[in-house]
Amino acid sequence: MATKVADPAGQEMPKCRTSPTAFDALTQYLAANPQNRPTHSHKFDVSRSDIYVEDRWQPIFAEMRAKGPLHYVPESPFGAYWNVVQHKAIQHVESLPELFSSSWEHGGITITDPDWEQELAEGEERFQLPMFIAMDRPKHTGQRRTVAPAFTPAEMKRMEVEIRQRTAELLDSLPEGEVFDWVEKVSIPLTTGMLAILFDFPWEDRHLLTYWSDWAGDTELSLARDLDMQRREILHEMAAYFQQLWMKKANEEPSPDLISMMIHSPAMNQMDPLEFMGNLVLLIVGGNDTTRNTMSGMIHGFDKFPDQRKLFEENPDLIPNAVQECIRYQTPLSHMRRTATEDTELFGEQIKKGDKVVMWYLSANRDETVFDNPDKIDITRENARRNISFGYGVHRCVGARLAELQLRLLLEEMHKRRMRVHVAGDVERVRANFVHGFRKLEVEITHF
Ligand code: HEM
Repeated sequence: MATKVADPAGQEMPKCRTSPTAFDALTQYLAANPQNRPTHSHKFDVSRSDIYVEDRWQPIFAEMRAKGPLHYVPESPFGAYWNVVQHKAIQHVESLPELFSSSWEHGGITITDPDWEQELAEGEERFQLPMFIAMDRPKHTGQRRTVAPAFTPAEMKRMEVEIRQRTAELLDSLPEGEVFDWVEKVSIPLTTGMLAILFDFPWEDRHLLTYWSDWAGDTELSLARDLDMQRREILHEMAAYFQQLWMKKANEEPSPDLISMMIHSPAMNQMDPLEFMGNLVLLIVGGNDTTRNTMSGMIHGFDKFPDQRKLFEENPDLIPNAVQECIRYQTPLSHMRRTATEDTELFGEQIKKGDKVVMWYLSANRDETVFDNPDKIDITRENARRNISFGYGVHRCVGARLAELQLRLLLEEMHKRRMRVHVAGDVERVRANFVHGFRKLEVEITHF
């Protein structure tokens, strides 16, 4: 549990643990309990994380796309579900939020069901942080409004100066002539720094944002009850920390950061403290793995397609489009899930009330009817912006502009330094069916 220590300003900030990582805890658990490893027998059961960690998901989705927009998987460790795999089909499902719900009460936004599907042990209570990504209208609309003003073009302009400066400092500190892990030295610190600026979070504690995000965002932890309990404890520590920050900011003059903005928003009085906390977690998790993995994906992608890296080096005007193309190619979140609120017909199939409908963004971004030669990065691609990585419709990512800003600044500052980054060692991908990215990316810097 968190212990209290006095910070230099005299405020009591809870001190939180930072180990083990969620990944290590899950690896240890599965090594000790091999019988609990999930099994997948259906050909189109794409909930299996091995296809992402081994980067061999592409032909499975290509086969599904060629056969049609929708495919039923009757059995999986996450129960029965429908796969939606084509670009247009996902837009269609997302445009019917009343029929295909995001709310926890119906099942939430990932292929993993909320923990109330599990039986409770004696004395145990249900725990689910409410957050607006997992709410339907009208409640979703009101809560989204409390954070949307933090992401306007004017706010992005304001944040640009500090994010650029932090990015430049970090790039200047990187080792030259030696192999290092880009995820550890660049993607994680830049993303965490970006979120710390957004929240005006104590800079010296910013590593906590990564730690909490990893624990909150790893859907496979739900495979083990012990880990779920550990997750709760860690989220309680996080809640205590934010409560403290909240009290501090509530007693200060309004400032332009997101927490202060939420506290002083008129819509805030309709949000209870648990919802406030849930929405903070949403912002930390939503902004963290996603932006981080695009930063790693850009470097990996440029190394795989050196002609495109050369184009970027010769023509920095292509950077904004390159950002869109890398977000398409990487697709940092593989899927989002919806649940049917009534019996309906979808693309000729009968969907029953309560059916789980999983929209695979990863597949839609490789839809050959929308993107020519989709398995290649092309930074001049005219419709790169049509990527669906940020979702579509009422829940489309509220932080998209901030992510785009951070990614553009990274490429601009790399270009200024004529920095070329080569993959020069181990590449390890994340073992998950939700977050799509890299755990490790060993690289070396040269110059063009
Ligand atoms: C929603 C992806 C960056 C905060 C979403 C959704 C996707 C997504 C797919 C839609 C969820 C749905 O339809 O159910 C991404 C990607 C990012 C990114 C790929 C980076 C490349 C960020 C950042 C933040 C953020 C930087 C904030 C700091 C949110 C929030 C929502 C959301 C709050 C919920 C919106 C709603 O339900 O109305 N994101 N995101 N995201 N994202 Fe992002």
